[in-house]
Parts: sequence; structure tokens; C-alpha cells
Amino acid sequence: MPTNTTFLSPGEGETVFSVNSSAIKFGAGALRELGADAQALGMKRVGMFVDAHVLASEPGETAVRALRESGIDVAIFDRARHEPDSNSFEAAAKFAREGAFDGFVSLGGGSVIDTAKAANLLSTYPDELIAYVNAPIGQGKPVPGRLKPHIACPTTCGTGSETTGIAILDLKSVGLKTGIASPMLKPSLAIVDPTTTETLAGGVVAACGFDVLTHAVESYTARPFTSRPRPAHPSQRPPYQGSTPYNDIGAIAAIRLGGRFLARAVRDKTDTEARHQLMFASTLAGLAFGSAGVHIPHAMSYSVATLKHVFTASGYEEHDPMVPHGIAVVVNAPAAFRFTASANPARHLEAAAAMGAKVDGATPSDAGEILAGAFISLMRETGLPSGIAALGYGETDVPALAEGAFAQQRPLVMAPRSVSKADLESIYRGAFRYW
Ligand SMILES: NC(=O)c1ccc[n+]([C@@H]2O[C@H](COP(=O)([O-])OP(=O)(O)OC[C@H]3O[C@@H](n4cnc5c(N)ncnc54)[C@H](O)[C@@H]3O)[C@@H](O)[C@H]2O)c1
Ligand SMILES: [Fe+2]
Repeated sequence: MPTNTTFLSPGEGETVFSVNSSAIKFGAGALRELGADAQALGMKRVGMFVDAHVLASEPGETAVRALRESGIDVAIFDRARHEPDSNSFEAAAKFAREGAFDGFVSLGGGSVIDTAKAANLLSTYPDELIAYVNAPIGQGKPVPGRLKPHIACPTTCGTGSETTGIAILDLKSVGLKTGIASPMLKPSLAIVDPTTTETLAGGVVAACGFDVLTHAVESYTARPFTSRPRPAHPSQRPPYQGSTPYNDIGAIAAIRLGGRFLARAVRDKTDTEARHQLMFASTLAGLAFGSAGVHIPHAMSYSVATLKHVFTASGYEEHDPMVPHGIAVVVNAPAAFRFTASANPARHLEAAAAMGAKVDGATPSDAGEILAGAFISLMRETGLPSGIAALGYGETDVPALAEGAFAQQRPLVMAPRSVSKADLESIYRGAFRYW
């Protein structure tokens, strides 16, 4: 059965979009200002969530020193699980409840930032985790009100979690990755210091960089906000609006930066220009997708990440075998964009051109192939797996993969065309092996 069958023409549907900006501080050295920023938000006793690696390195020292020099009492939680699950969210919530903090700081990748968001929620408005998890997997309970101030300081150039109202977890009880989503989860301030990316392994930059590119291309190709019905009341406007002229600006800029700098940032740790620009792209793409939404490649990623754990990506050798988020997404991207291109060939071609692909003389029917080709060539260049077969998936896994993806209706309804379970099965088949 198809999902998002209602696509209105411009003029028939929504005419209004909103810009819910995040407070962002960006630049080399920004982390040194963390203490002053925490003070400005009224923090006196901070629960700090930090990646254990990062804590032991310069950004960790800088952040803790900045807080303590501003007279702020800091308690540290460095056990955030990489790609968090319900146990790690609950352990973090326990730390947050027992610490009686008046604010939170997170310093790490998306895993750490998401853990801090969940701990803030579960300690401010205690309830079972599953109550807040997106329906239909969880109960989808609305976040009751404002949370405590949270300053998010990313140290990976990928998720954009520092500006989004989403916390993603691997819900082991149902074998699915899903999340909690509410504008209330948005950090109060993002401090994005691109120097933190200089210690990342090349393979981690590759996974994170493809998360950036897919966020940006998915937001740019999401259904237009004008294709949704106008809500009866402004409060019923959904948090994901579809593509809007405002989100498009950040999305296309992030695609250009990703196309230009991703391979360089992966190849050479000392190429600070490339790494810093990719960090900026990550923030721009986070802003775009946090408001427009992502669609099929992300919806498909959750089952790719949860059904098999037999793959070890470059840069992730010290973790148990798993598919890092950015890889779980981008392996679906070429096949998914081949499927969506007919809904808006011009946008798919613009995205491909922004990535650096040649589009001169292309016809609308070439759009899907050209955008898919741009992804495939960058995936090859950066040493990514050649498709989901390299992650252990075969034909017999297709129904379960599609079943899991179809449950992710929140992103699927943002796709530019309706997508059925059978469509998802054929997109997975198209994602087995790209070269
Ligand atoms: N909330 C959102 O909006 C959002 C969006 C996309 C993805 N996510 C989630 O974010 C998680 C992935 O986050 P991620 O890709 O940022 O990776 P991560 O936080 O899991 O970290 C990846 C690896 O990099 C290491 N690391 C982090 N910073 C480092 C640094 N500066 N130097 C050296 N090593 C460093 C970590 O120790 C870890 O081994 C997933 O759970 C994903 O589902 C959330
Ligand atoms: Fe993502």
C-alpha cells in the first residue's frame, strides 16, 4: 500500500513555512568560550556528557577547563554508548536525575549529543523511555514543556544533532532504530569548533561526511512544503515541513561543500581547510534537515543498521561490528534517488551539479542516474562498501529490511513520491552492489 498519497499542487495546499533558528556559535577556538556561554544560560552545576576519547584529548581538556574557570561545578558522564541504545539512554538519565544539575553540556559526536538530549528529557520529566519514543514504535508522548539548558558541542562532522530536536536510539526490544523527536529537545546553544575534527580517523570522517551529504540532498529533494494540506490551526503544522526556500539555501550550500571537501577531508587528516569546511556543511545540513526532514535513504538506514552486525568499517575497528549511521544511510542513496528522481528531476540534477557532477545536456530522465552516479563515485573514492551485500545482506533479507523501513513513516512521508513496501523491496535490491 502506498503511503503519502496526498500531494497537493501549489496554491491548493500549505502556503506558510516557519524558520525556527538555532543559536549557533561557529569557529576555531569557540570551545574556549564554553564557560562564559554556560554562565550566560544560568548554569551553576553542569552534567557533562562527553565521548571518552574526546575527554582524554585537547577538546575535552579545553571544555572542562573553560567550565571550571567560570566557577561552574561539573560532573562528567563519559559512558555514552557509540550509537546509543535504550540501556545507555537510561544509564545517562539516571546520572542526570541523581546529579540535580541545572544544565547540561555535551561534547562528542551525535551519539553523545543524543544521549544528553534523552537524559535531559528523562530527568526533567521522568517517564519510561518508550513513552517518548516515536509512535507507532513507541507511545509518541509529547514532551511536556521546556527542558533544562543544554549546550551541544559536536566533535564529528556529520549528524548536525547540535541543532536538531531528535535523539536516535537502537531500540533493542523491537530490533529497530528509531528516535524521540520534539522541538523541545533542540539544544539551547550549539558551539561548533571545527578544530575538534582534526583527530578523527579518515573512515569516521567518511561515514560522517556521507551523513551530511544525505541530510542535505534528502532535504533538498523532500516533498515541497506546499504539497501538504494547510493545517486547520497553526499548532498542527508538523515539525518537518518539507523543502522550503529557506532550508534549500543551507541544503544546497552543504551539498556544494560536501562535494568539494569530503574526499579531501577523508584522505588527509592535516587538511584542516577540508575538515573545517565539512564541519560547516554538517551544521548547515543539520539546520536544513531538522526543519525540512529527510526521507527514503534515512528511513531505509535503520533496518540496515539493526538487522546484521557483521561489518567493521575503517576507523571503527575498536567497536563491535556494526554499520555506522552515515554508511547505513548512503548505501541506500543511489538506489533511492533513482526511484525519487522522476518526482522532481530538476532538483535531483541541481543536487548532482552541486556535488560536482557534469549535467550539461542532461534530460529529466537522466536525473536519477546522474545523482546516483555522483554518490557512487564519491563512495568509491572514499573507500566505502559497494552496497548492502558488503554489509552481509542478501535476497532473503529483503522482506525484513523493507518491513523495518516501512515502519519509519515519519521520514517516508517526506519523500517526493509515495513509496510502498514493494517499492522499498526493489530499492533494497537496487542497493546490493553498485560496482
Ligand atoms: N540527532 C540527530 O539529529 C542525528 C542525526 C543523524 C545521526 N544521529 C545519530 O548519531 C549517531 C552517530 O553519531 P556520529 O556519526 O557523530 O558518531 P559517534 O558519536 O558515534 O562517534 C563516532 C566515533 O568517533 C569517535 N570520535 C568522536 N569525536 C572524535 C574526535 N574529535 N576525535 C577522534 N574520535 C572521535 C567516537 O569515539 C566514535 O568512535 C548515531 O546514533 C546516529 O543515529 C543523530
Ligand atoms: Fe543522518
